[in-house]
Amino acid sequence: MKRRDFLKNSAALMAASILPINLVEVEASEEQSFTFAFISDAHLQQIKGAKFVQSWDKGLKMAVAQCNLLDPKPDFVIFGGDLAQLGKKAELDHGAEILSALRAPVKMMLGEHDFYLDLGEAWMKMFGDPYYSFDHKGVHFVVLNSILVDEGWINKWKDPMDRMRTMAGLDDPNGSPFMVGKKQREWLRKDLAKYSDETPIVVFSHSPLQKIYKGWNFWTDDAEEVQKILSRFKKVNVIYGHVHQIQYNKIGNIAFNSVMSTAWPWPYPDTYLKAKNEVYLPKMTVKMNRADPFFERDATGWQFVNVASGRVDMHYILPNNTNRVVKYDLTKNRPVDTKYQDCQIPPQIHY
Ligand SMILES: [Fe+2]
Ligand SMILES: [Fe+2]
Repeated sequence: MKRRDFLKNSAALMAASILPINLVEVEASEEQSFTFAFISDAHLQQIKGAKFVQSWDKGLKMAVAQCNLLDPKPDFVIFGGDLAQLGKKAELDHGAEILSALRAPVKMMLGEHDFYLDLGEAWMKMFGDPYYSFDHKGVHFVVLNSILVDEGWINKWKDPMDRMRTMAGLDDPNGSPFMVGKKQREWLRKDLAKYSDETPIVVFSHSPLQKIYKGWNFWTDDAEEVQKILSRFKKVNVIYGHVHQIQYNKIGNIAFNSVMSTAWPWPYPDTYLKAKNEVYLPKMTVKMNRADPFFERDATGWQFVNVASGRVDMHYILPNNTNRVVKYDLTKNRPVDTKYQDCQIPPQIHY
């Protein structure tokens, strides 16, 4: 894409982006209204010359470039995990280099693709602890490492790359279900003990902290136990990566929103799999229309997130610069798909 076209498209993107931010600010008190960005699931490989690899790079690079043009600027950017494809140091280095162009502070989350080669050694050296919390403008943020599994499964593999490849397969029956685990649940309980029930909580996890489909690990085994720890708070928002598609839901006071990948979309599980008594999508989710399955960037992108009155509105930035919004409707007290109501559609960005 020529620089001039990029600037033209970016201006249109910002025009589309500014409107919902202003609308939200009217409803919220100033200290509780702010924006952050969420980029996730880049799945980078460091192999020179392969065409599809370059395409994964471009998804992340586009997200970084567009994110830098957001106005107002995001307060921070969270990267939602799966920076690497097979956990290699070269892949993580490559990803860190691309992310270093972001002009806002970056917070990192771990995905299974970053972990199961060396059990997170390289990732932790580069990015620090895989679970932590911080306060920002009256909201308490928690980043969890939700992709842990039983020690027994981890230790049964002689070759770490076999372990990594097995976990990397979407539907590999030799994988193992994810969990947050007892140690981290205890940490979460203690971390939250300092906060009143009125404090808005935003939790970032790589896998969904709700059970969607075990066969593809759209799943966290101890999701209900984590939900229980969160349940006393009046406003809880969980935002997760891993599923590479838009989902939303609400369980008790907890609103759930997923994010897209910059690399590729996964299909919705119930498109292909129907079985008795199994739920494959959170009940509120309206599936995105995948109108163009031959456009490899369809249903990929990044998102900016407005926090107002302790709830999150998700703005999904798709590759043709449409801005699809899943807003938290305070009158209905749940996330709702607002279709294209505040969207201007500029000309497509060509990859
Ligand atoms: Fe992923
Ligand atoms: Fe993942």
